[in-house]
Amino acid sequence: MNRYTGQTVLVTGAGQGLGRAMAHRFAAEGAHVLIGEINEDAGAELATELTGKHGVLAQSRALDVTRSAEVDDWIRQIHAEHGSIDVLVNNAGIIRDNRVEDITDEDWRVVLDVSLGGSFHCARAVFPGMKERGYGRIVSFSSMSWRGNFGQANYVAAKAGIVGLTRTLALEGARHGITANAIAPGLIETPMLASMNGSARDKLTAKIPMRHTGRPADIAEAAAFLASKAAGYLTGVVLDVDGGLSIGSSIR
Ligand SMILES: NC(=O)c1ccc[n+]([C@@H]2O[C@H](COP(=O)([O-])OP(=O)(O)OC[C@H]3O[C@@H](n4cnc5c(N)ncnc54)[C@H](O)[C@@H]3O)[C@@H](O)[C@H]2O)c1
Repeated sequence: MNRYTGQTVLVTGAGQGLGRAMAHRFAAEGAHVLIGEINEDAGAELATELTGKHGVLAQSRALDVTRSAEVDDWIRQIHAEHGSIDVLVNNAGIIRDNRVEDITDEDWRVVLDVSLGGSFHCARAVFPGMKERGYGRIVSFSSMSWRGNFGQANYVAAKAGIVGLTRTLALEGARHGITANAIAPGLIETPMLASMNGSARDKLTAKIPMRHTGRPADIAEAAAFLASKAAGYLTGVVLDVDGGLSIGSSIR
């Protein structure tokens, strides 16, 4: 499929994990991929890889999504150099897990700032251009955890916030051809998952109805659908991509 030929797709935090897989997927379908990544080397390496492998235009910029002035400048530069923006993928996110009484001010703040603040900064910056053009797709990253998860009060608050942000962007964008949706991944094999406590991970994996963790490609598949022209009547949705884990408990 070549659904993204000629389109400009922005992916934040694409240096590794899900963002990297999505960048490859969009590039494989012909998109120009613009990466905003705090890890400058990882972003630059990915851009070279995308151009080499898929023959598309790919650029990376050192970007901290928590800094709104940096985000605004990035979007201004993209408009000047590439024209319009078709897709924004708000992927950058971090975890700093702890029980509620042990979450420091800094760990509360930074987790919300990166995931929720970063998604807001990027959405706010692309919105006027998308509105003017009457077209845009925003895909943001929530998590299966948004419903509540032990030891993750900061992350859960950020990921539930993404749901509210997404639903509001959907309302405000609807009459302008802009859709906004969220993906709520379950357990996907990425460096973020590798950093999770081993026994917690094993216990959770055993609860997945499909009995195995997901692959970054599973998420890339969902993102490539949600961000496509064909998904134009679908907005404000939180798409669970989790092997059935969020369905609820099963006695078997
Ligand atoms: N992996 C999973 O199982 C899983 C499950 C649910 C939700 N998610 C969500 O999916 C998204 C991607 O997860 P992942 O597993 O690929 O994570 P990851 O840790 O592997 O990658 C995150 C990327 O974001 C970048 N980043 C961090 N802070 C940044 C900042 N301030 N500005 C710009 N870039 C920044 C990092 O450098 C890194 O490249 C996150 O929002 C995460 O919360 C992941």
